[in-house]
Amino acid sequence: MSKRKSIKDIVALKELSNPIVCLTSYTYPQSKILDKHCDLLLVGDSLGMVLYGYDSTLTVSVDLMIQHGKAVVKGSENSLVVVDMPFGSYQKSKEQAFENCSRVIAETGCQAVKLEGGVEIAETIKHLVDLGIPVMGHIGMKPQHHNAYGGFTVQGKDEVSRDKVLADAKAVIDAGAFSFVLEAVTEDVANEVCKSSVIPVIGIGASAEADGQILVCEDMLGMFEKSAKFVKNYAELGQGIEKAVESYAKEVRERTFPGEDNIYKKSA
Ligand code: KIV
Repeated sequence: MSKRKSIKDIVALKELSNPIVCLTSYTYPQSKILDKHCDLLLVGDSLGMVLYGYDSTLTVSVDLMIQHGKAVVKGSENSLVVVDMPFGSYQKSKEQAFENCSRVIAETGCQAVKLEGGVEIAETIKHLVDLGIPVMGHIGMKPQHHNAYGGFTVQGKDEVSRDKVLADAKAVIDAGAFSFVLEAVTEDVANEVCKSSVIPVIGIGASAEADGQILVCEDMLGMFEKSAKFVKNYAELGQGIEKAVESYAKEVRERTFPGEDNIYKKSA
């Protein structure tokens, strides 16, 4: 049995300039497939949109993240598992954040939690880290803030936005996060962040200079219509599944399935 990666191992990958491979994972069978190729699996709150069809990540609950977190930990033995903290589960107070984050860690067995935000939640990150909870940050475009931005918009396009991204990166690093996701930021700003960061920067729509990359697994597998410029389809599983289901439906209707190989004979 291989040994699961630790926070120290992820940080060491940056120090060795070895790219950090990350994907989202939400279920046991998916984690079993991704685990040996990834350094880090993120149980992202994007599962609200991807698995449950919500319009945003805002309706996801702590209980739901715990259910999926447990499945991903069970389905993996190599990757570090990080679970996203849902909107509203850590912003009220440092105490609320500790209560929910410690529950997620204790009930799922994951190694770290991820919180969206920079300067505004730096004190909370510090509090959690001081109490022994490893935290991954998430800055740049923060999907939980899409109502405030007026959409899922690229950050860093003007001076104010650039300064905010840089300030958020500094705040998250100073607060003691072990790594952070940098999402949908212009390449020049992303490169500035990557150059100055002493902790691993995991890019999604950021820059090839990031220490690692992450994508939503179902996006890169081509399960949906391509939604964002930063997504690359490494497969077309959506089309593949549709073709398979079409063949199955045809054979059932033609009564050619089940065939001889798929039925039990009394004598065999
Ligand atoms: O929820 C999620 O899947 C994420 C990734 C896109 C980084 O936060």
